[in-house]
Amino acid sequence: MQLLKDSNHLLEKRGEEQQGLIKKLHEAQNQLLQSEKLASIGQLAAGVAHEINNPVGFINSNIGSLERYLKNLFVILDAYEKAEAQGTECAAVKTLKEQLDYAYLKEDVVSLIEETRDGVARVKKIVQDLKDFSHVDEAEWQWADLHKGLDSTLNVVNNEIKYKAEVVKEYGELPPVECLPSQLNQVFMNLLVNAAHAIAERGTITLRTGGVGEEVWVEVADTGSGIAPENMKRIFDPFFTTKPVGKGTGLGLSLSYGIVQKHHGRIEVQSEQGRGTTFRITLPVRQAEAAAA
Ligand SMILES: Nc1ncnc2c1ncn2[C@@H]1O[C@H](COP(=O)(O)OP(=O)(O)OP(=O)(O)O)[C@@H](O)[C@H]1O
Ligand SMILES: [Mg+2]
Repeated sequence: MQLLKDSNHLLEKRGEEQQGLIKKLHEAQNQLLQSEKLASIGQLAAGVAHEINNPVGFINSNIGSLERYLKNLFVILDAYEKAEAQGTECAAVKTLKEQLDYAYLKEDVVSLIEETRDGVARVKKIVQDLKDFSHVDEAEWQWADLHKGLDSTLNVVNNEIKYKAEVVKEYGELPPVECLPSQLNQVFMNLLVNAAHAIAERGTITLRTGGVGEEVWVEVADTGSGIAPENMKRIFDPFFTTKPVGKGTGLGLSLSYGIVQKHHGRIEVQSEQGRGTTFRITLPVRQAEAAAA
């Protein structure tokens, strides 16, 4: 009897220990999910920094040239003023204009200003896309235009994609969808980056959308490597990755799966090795009262 009691006690204790371990595992998994998020934000930031750095670079150098040109312009103007005051011939001014290459200056000032304005517009657009992508000020359920989300996400990950793939948009008609836009953008980002990674040299990524009744769908199709049949069951598992260490954490699709579930939607995949992969997300247009509360 005592023996039974003892082993019961032991079992209970084991059970408690296991509960504790499971809890710790959950905590560790949450922490990892968090760090994956940070890692992808870091990746994103690097891409955006690159995109911004380029126009800022030539804006900076243009401003340098413009400054020089303006100084020369004032030198020429001063000479004119002097000649005017003395009522003399303008021969000195003429030489000065030649020395300072006034003809070229006149042309170049216009194109420098045009180019600079273009650069500033580019930076402005990137910042706007980033704002749209992250919805920094709104992390709530709201009615959103998924095409806008797709477009701003596309611009943000453009860096990862542009050397690999041509992006084709086949957008259908979409009503506003009740969703967490920043989280859906995260899903679009994961799918787009995966598609780009699957393409070895050069390929196509097609974005299709459409609506049927009370549901909408978004497809991300690539002409990449495809997924091996034996991996199909595992791609949504946390930490499942076929990418080399340091390249993938294997959390992109499992996070995406969680986000789509939260929206009461589903995510499906079709793939053929050597031909490509299509991910399709289907979402309800409106959330049931309790869900969106
Ligand atoms: N479009 C795709 N084409 C081919 N294989 C894919 C595609 N999308 C996902 N996979 C496979 O699914 C695996 C898991 O994808 P997931 O996005 O979860 O992780 P990952 O891309 O490896 O790493 P990360 O955490 O950086 O996203 C990938 O390693 C890859 O093998
Ligand atoms: Mg991924």
